[in-house]
Amino acid sequence: MLSTAAKSDDKPKFYGRRMGRRIRKAKTTLLDAFLPQLKIPAEMPINKETLFSTPVDKLYLEIGFGNGEHLAGQALKNPDIGFIGAEVFKNGVANLLSIITGIKEGENLPEHISILPERKDNIRVFDDDVRLLFAKIPDNSVDKIFVLFPDPWPKKRHANRRFINPDNLKEIARILKKGGILRVATDHKIYKRWTLEQLRNHNAFKWTATCGNDWKHAPADWVETKYQRKAIREGRRPVFLDFERV
Ligand SMILES: C[S@@+](CC[C@H](N)C(=O)[O-])C[C@H]1O[C@@H](n2cnc3c(N)ncnc32)[C@H](O)[C@@H]1O
Repeated sequence: MLSTAAKSDDKPKFYGRRMGRRIRKAKTTLLDAFLPQLKIPAEMPINKETLFSTPVDKLYLEIGFGNGEHLAGQALKNPDIGFIGAEVFKNGVANLLSIITGIKEGENLPEHISILPERKDNIRVFDDDVRLLFAKIPDNSVDKIFVLFPDPWPKKRHANRRFINPDNLKEIARILKKGGILRVATDHKIYKRWTLEQLRNHNAFKWTATCGNDWKHAPADWVETKYQRKAIREGRRPVFLDFERV
């Protein structure tokens, strides 16, 4: 995943995978023909007033949305909220597009691709490293940020690749509104400890938990993710950590 130190060509070094298995026909078409409609425009200011075709009340950001289930689920449940999803992994971006258009492999592609009628046009996609997006997001403008099951990089020598780190927290603290929430979920003991160490004594954040029930169980507005299912299948118990921007 991410290093705060290693950089090349002015781009931060990304340690994860950008591509997985060969992307088949329908998803390739979605990436080529439909993604441009949802992509964050390079030249536009990033705020809830300019990004969406219809007005939204709040702006949420999901960092590393994986195959997009959580982002698509949240956007469906919250039609009045605008969502930005950032993901480097191309196959994941393609999967999100498949969920929100209902277009699956093996089916005939419609002449005109659009989001499913029951959905609002409330998702925008940044298909690259979110650290390249941060600078374009104004201070105090995002209501909620999700970092769900980030790559744990459990080895000590890889600790500087962990997404929850001082540099990224500085940006997250800057763009989150006062009272906004940073939600981190993890199934990894080392990452849980690491996250609490990074955030508990951080002067911009307050852990909202008052008892074990608040972090051992999924919050009321939760949508299941692929990595959450994998963790449970493999016998690990996820934790759900909400931090308020103070
Ligand atoms: C372990 S996966 C979890 C995916 C998903 N959140 C879930 O719970 O199923 C972590 C994801 O974060 C993405 N990621 C890591 N660093 C990122 C960054 N700086 N910008 C955008 N995506 C990132 C990776 O590509 C990967 O898909």
